[in-house]
Amino acid sequence: MTTIHVGGASPYDVHIGRDFADLLPGILGEQVQRVAFVYAGSLGALAEPLLDRLVDRYEVLALGLPDGEAAKTAAVANDCWEALGEKGFTRSDAVVTFGGGATTDLGGFVAASWLRGVRVVHVPTTLLAMVDAAVGGKTGINTGAGKNLVGAFHEPAGVLCDLALLGSLPREELVAGLGEVVKCGFIADPRILELVETTDPETLTAESPVLEELVERAIRVKAEVVVADLKEAGGADGHPGREVLNYGHTLAHAIEKHESYAIRHGEAVAIGCVYAAELARLAGRLDDATAARHRTAFERVGLPTTYASTSSGQAVTFDDLVGAMRVDKKARGSQLRFLVLDGLAKPSILAGPSEELLREAFRAVSA
Ligand code: GLY
Repeated sequence: MTTIHVGGASPYDVHIGRDFADLLPGILGEQVQRVAFVYAGSLGALAEPLLDRLVDRYEVLALGLPDGEAAKTAAVANDCWEALGEKGFTRSDAVVTFGGGATTDLGGFVAASWLRGVRVVHVPTTLLAMVDAAVGGKTGINTGAGKNLVGAFHEPAGVLCDLALLGSLPREELVAGLGEVVKCGFIADPRILELVETTDPETLTAESPVLEELVERAIRVKAEVVVADLKEAGGADGHPGREVLNYGHTLAHAIEKHESYAIRHGEAVAIGCVYAAELARLAGRLDDATAARHRTAFERVGLPTTYASTSSGQAVTFDDLVGAMRVDKKARGSQLRFLVLDGLAKPSILAGPSEELLREAFRAVSA
């Protein structure tokens, strides 16, 4: 087992390994009597061993959520709050989440808001949630106006990444999770890229020691970034801070919206990173080889690097996406801002690129 300590005002540990439910009581603490087990409802059987262990020790309230983004609504959060109220949940009780990113986001938000904050431990079940959503304290729900517009920063008391859980993850979901991992390679840890480039991607399974190292490295990247800039206020010494985690996300979010979220996040991120690299190359900030490496690294793990038509086969133009890019959280007024690289692991901001540049970069990913 590897433990990564996430420092800051509310420090916690992220444990990476296999079968460590025994750690849970120690992380939850002596005072906890009731545990709200917030889990992705469709994972029922996978959740049972952990649920049984909790039931042996605590008064457990099991709250099964709808799948995916359908969990991240005010109505679902309200159902959880009502259930906690009925059970007499106090400030010294705790939430345990078990599921993918939507479950950690919703469960984390319920924990952040109930009595202005109770302890939460995340047990992510997808690669994407292990390397991204479960670490860093972002919680939230969606509203009619967009994704994650209501939420809170609420750091977990601990995160348990049980790699054995990845054994039941569909291959496409595992591959999609690698999108965020490869992104971490470009923004901060080139060793991730070397590992990806020298490993047969078919061997990256739940049992793979290389996958374990990739997970550890991606979590270390995220941990370092959030410790330095938890609330995305900006980094020191010209580093963009937590915004670096959004590398590739400006176009990715626009693609996800255009697809009505029918595309996997990690797939959209892969295309978005290739686009950001192309923008930086055309702006004279990134060398040709590093831009080309984006394409090969994401393709090697099985991710898309072009976006010419939707998953239902309709041709996509730049104009279909630019509107959504303008409402990206990084945009300021009418000016678009992109996280780009000035070189490998040298993130910076490209503010107000010309429309011509934006279109030209799009041509490179729509070819
Ligand atoms: N997923 C981006 C962040 O945690 O800031």
